[in-house]
Amino acid sequence: MTEKIVREKSQEEEKRQLGFLKELSDYVETRVAEGHPRPRSYVETFGCQMNARDSEKLRGILSEAGFLETEDEKEADLIIYNTCTVRENADLHVYGRLGRLVGYKKKNPDLLVGVCGCMMQEKQVVDKIRRSYPVVDLVFGTHNLFTFPELLLRTLRGKKRVVEVWDSTDEMVEHLPVRRKYAFKTGINIMYGCNNFCSYCIVPYVRGRERSREPEAILEEVRHFAADGVKEIMLLGQNVNSYGKTLETPMTFAQLLREVCRIDGIERVRFMSSHPKDLTDELIDTIAAEPKICRHYHLPVQSGSDRILKEMNRRYTHAAYMAKVKKIREKIPAISITTDIIVGFPGETEEDFEETLRLVHEAKFDSVFTFIYSKRTGTPAAAMPDQIEDGVVHERFDRLMEAVKEEGETACARFTGQTMDVLVEEVNKRTPDLVTGRISQNLIVHFPGTAADVGKIVPVRLDDCRGFYYFGTRAN
Ligand code: 5AD
Ligand code: SF4
Repeated sequence: MTEKIVREKSQEEEKRQLGFLKELSDYVETRVAEGHPRPRSYVETFGCQMNARDSEKLRGILSEAGFLETEDEKEADLIIYNTCTVRENADLHVYGRLGRLVGYKKKNPDLLVGVCGCMMQEKQVVDKIRRSYPVVDLVFGTHNLFTFPELLLRTLRGKKRVVEVWDSTDEMVEHLPVRRKYAFKTGINIMYGCNNFCSYCIVPYVRGRERSREPEAILEEVRHFAADGVKEIMLLGQNVNSYGKTLETPMTFAQLLREVCRIDGIERVRFMSSHPKDLTDELIDTIAAEPKICRHYHLPVQSGSDRILKEMNRRYTHAAYMAKVKKIREKIPAISITTDIIVGFPGETEEDFEETLRLVHEAKFDSVFTFIYSKRTGTPAAAMPDQIEDGVVHERFDRLMEAVKEEGETACARFTGQTMDVLVEEVNKRTPDLVTGRISQNLIVHFPGTAADVGKIVPVRLDDCRGFYYFGTRAN
């Protein structure tokens, strides 16, 4: 199917869903006119930035339909969990939370419960919910998120449970309402899916094949955000470094970044996530040359052992990864580099693990997301021999955390005394005379301020580093 046909089809689908949204809103308003209280919705996000963006879409639809938003699950009439399935713990957590909702439903028989997101793309999960979780009224997946208006309407009208999960889709329906969590920053999907098939990872199975959005559609959306007050934009994809390869007129991620930086009003550009094998010199040079691109590179390494990297199907070596880190640091000295590491991949020996520790010390990461390997049914690694014993994994995990802490604290403290721009995100929850924001390097800074600072970029002197964040003072 060509891009053009897909686009026309998507426009038709958009119109259909907007029609359902209108019906949804009429339904809600009629109930309110009849004397029912206005329904309240609660959406909770598990997992990554892609899911956070999807939740903004769900909230936009709910707000347009006339729902009030609540932050307290207990008082909601509609609860939606947008789930993640990257690790088994995330799944278990969702089942636990669903169990709790049975009591809520007893108190409020009108309560509707919906689950969506990556977990729902797994057949055994949907089967389990069908069988064992009658508390759930609505199930949908990542590929048909945009059918939410239609499915919610069906759930509200019928008294039957609605389950609709698609295996894949060609459509990219992008023009439904969105409600941003922050007025001044948001994410934008530039591509969907993943083609890498790292042997431990379930994402290619749940998010499908890689598809890039047309650059013009992305730029139009960013322009719209800028006009609406957005200052910081995060370009989202499972592997943004391979953006544009499959477009009819191919384009590189670096080219797209340059175009985004040209848009007035956008002051900061971030991106997530990227695969080391596709990191090009062109991209490093672009980041170095564009002051709007944040000085933060999240570059997941996963392991420092060449043997394990091969088993993981990562397609780079310890040395190749370090060469890229070195090049980034040479060209962009102020950059903060962060990573993801998995401990306890099947067959990982003490020597393999020590290679990972060595890499942490060589790379001097600013921070590391550390994960215990989690066996995901259906992935090649799940069938590998030598799954590592829990005790060994935990012991390694603790040693890794220590190395990470040591390097991270030193790396973080290197900005002490400097004045840096902070984009203020919120009034500090614990100490209301402080505000909290981030510097370009993504480090958190607390400094004295008021609600009037939220959404502004303020120069702040970084006085005191407390491990992974700073206390500062306004610098003017
Ligand atoms: N077990 C543990 N961690 C995993 N990740 C992905 N799949 C697994 C798994 N099966 C981690 C990787 C990835 C991050 C988003 O989650 O480190 O970069
Ligand atoms: Fe979790 Fe991956 Fe889905 Fe993000 S894309 S929510 S990390 S499973």
